[in-house]
Amino acid sequence: MTDRPAQPSPSLTSLARVSSETLQYQQRADDQAWIDVIHRMDVVYTDLVRSQVELENKNDELENTKNFIQSVITSISDILIVCDINGIILQVNNALTNEIGLSSDEILGKPVSDLFSDNHKTLISDFPEHIRSDNIIDCEIDLVNTSNKLVPMSINCSARYDHENRLSGFVITGHPIGDLRKAFSELKKTHEELKMTQQHLVQSEKMASLGRLVAGVAHELNNPISFLYANMHALKSYEEKFIAYLDAIHNDISKDAREKLRAELKVDRIMADIEPLVEGSLEGAERVSEIVQNLSKFTTPQKQKKQSFNLISVIKRASSWVLNASSFTPEIIIDYPEDFALINNEGHVHQILINLIQNAVDAVKNIKKPQLYISIQKKHKSIEIYIGDNGYGIDPKDTNKIFDPFYTTKAVGSGTGLGLYISYGLAIEQCNGDLTARNHTSGGAEFILSLPLEES
Ligand SMILES: Nc1ncnc2c1ncn2[C@@H]1O[C@H](COP(=O)(O)OP(=O)(O)OP(=O)(O)O)[C@@H](O)[C@H]1O
Ligand SMILES: [Mg+2]
Repeated sequence: MTDRPAQPSPSLTSLARVSSETLQYQQRADDQAWIDVIHRMDVVYTDLVRSQVELENKNDELENTKNFIQSVITSISDILIVCDINGIILQVNNALTNEIGLSSDEILGKPVSDLFSDNHKTLISDFPEHIRSDNIIDCEIDLVNTSNKLVPMSINCSARYDHENRLSGFVITGHPIGDLRKAFSELKKTHEELKMTQQHLVQSEKMASLGRLVAGVAHELNNPISFLYANMHALKSYEEKFIAYLDAIHNDISKDAREKLRAELKVDRIMADIEPLVEGSLEGAERVSEIVQNLSKFTTPQKQKKQSFNLISVIKRASSWVLNASSFTPEIIIDYPEDFALINNEGHVHQILINLIQNAVDAVKNIKKPQLYISIQKKHKSIEIYIGDNGYGIDPKDTNKIFDPFYTTKAVGSGTGLGLYISYGLAIEQCNGDLTARNHTSGGAEFILSLPLEES
C-alpha cells in the first residue's frame, strides 16, 4: 500500500470556519479516491497473477517439448550432428558420442570437419555450399574415433532453416557401414565357396553320369557275353569229343568200333548243334560290337537308322539268348505267327526284349511250374508284344518305381536296376513306342512293348 498524499495542515482558525458539513463532504471525497486507487491496484494485481500463471504454463510446455526432443534425439540409433552455417557443431546425440568416444562437451562448438578423416575434410567443408542446392544422400565418409581408427559411415546431410526461413545451418545423420561392409565381404566369401561347391557338384554329377553309363553298358554287355560264354563252353566240350573221335579214326579202328564210338560221343547231335551254336555266338559277338558302336556314338546322340526285320525272329533269338544262359528252363507259351515284318531299330527291339524276358525268367526262378507267355497283337497303328510270367508279380506300390534307374528288388550283386530304365528309354526315344507294366489277372507280371506300325 502507498502512503496517503501529503496535505498542508489546516490552521485552527480555518478549521473553525469550516462547517461540519463541508468537513463531511471532504471526508467522503477522500475515501472515494482511496477506494478507486485500491480497486485499480486489485485489477493490476490480478493481471499480474494471470500473466505469472500463463508464463509458468508456457515454461512447462517448453520444458516438455525440450525433454521430448531430447529423448527422441537420444533414442535415435543413427548419429546426429547439428551445425550452424559455418559448420560449427551445435548439438550431437549419444549415437555419435558412443561411436567416436568423446563427450558432447568435448565436441560442441568445434568445426564439424574435426570429426572426420583428413581425406574427407574438404568434402565436409563443401557441405554448407552444397546443401543450398540439394540434400546429400548416402555419402560414404569416415569418422575418426579417439583411438584414431576410421569408422566408415553412410551419411545424409540436409539444410536447416530459422523461423524466417533463412538458411541457418545443416544437419548430418548417418549410420556405420562397417558391419555392412563386413557382411558384404562375408557374403562374397560365401558366394565364392558356393561357386566352388557347385563346381564340385557338377564334377561329381559328371562322374555319377559316367558311372551310370558304365553300369548301363556293363548291364547290356552282360547278356550277349553270358550267351557267348555258354556257347563257348558247349563248343569246348564238343571239341574234346571231336578230337577223341578223330583220333580213333586216325588209329584205323574198325567200322563197328567207330559207329559205336560215334553213338557214344553223340557226334551226330553235336554236328547238328554246331551250326546254331556258331550262329548264336556270332549274333552275340555282333550285339557286343553294336553296343560298343552305340557307345562311340554316345557323344553325338542321333536316332539310329530303322530297317525292316522279322519281329518273330528277334523274339525267338532274344528268348534263346536268355534261356541258354539260364540255369533252369521254364515252359514258354507262345502265341505269335511265323513272321511279322516291322520297320524299326532291330538291335534296340532285341535289347528291350532280352531285358523283359530276363526279368520274367528271374521272376519265375523259385516257382514250382515256371511259365513264360510271349504273344503279339496287331492294333490299329501299332503292334503290341506281351511278355508275361507266372511269378510273384509287381507290388502295386512299386509300379511307378520299376522304371527308375537303379531301382531293384533283387539281391545285392544280382540286379543293377537298369534293365527297365534302359528299355523304357529305348522304347520311347529310339523306337517311338511305349513300354508299360501291369499284373496279369491270373497272377504274375506282364510287360507290353508297343511299337508303331505306320513305318512298316
Ligand atoms: N516280371 C517281373 N515280375 C516282377 N517284378 C519285376 C518283373 N520285372 C521287373 N520287376 C521289378 O522291377 C525291378 C527293376 O527291374 P530292372 O530290370 O530294371 O532291374 P533288375 O532286373 O532288378 O536288375 P537288372 O535288370 O539291372 O539286372 C526288379 O528288381 C523287380 O522288382
Ligand atoms: Mg532286369
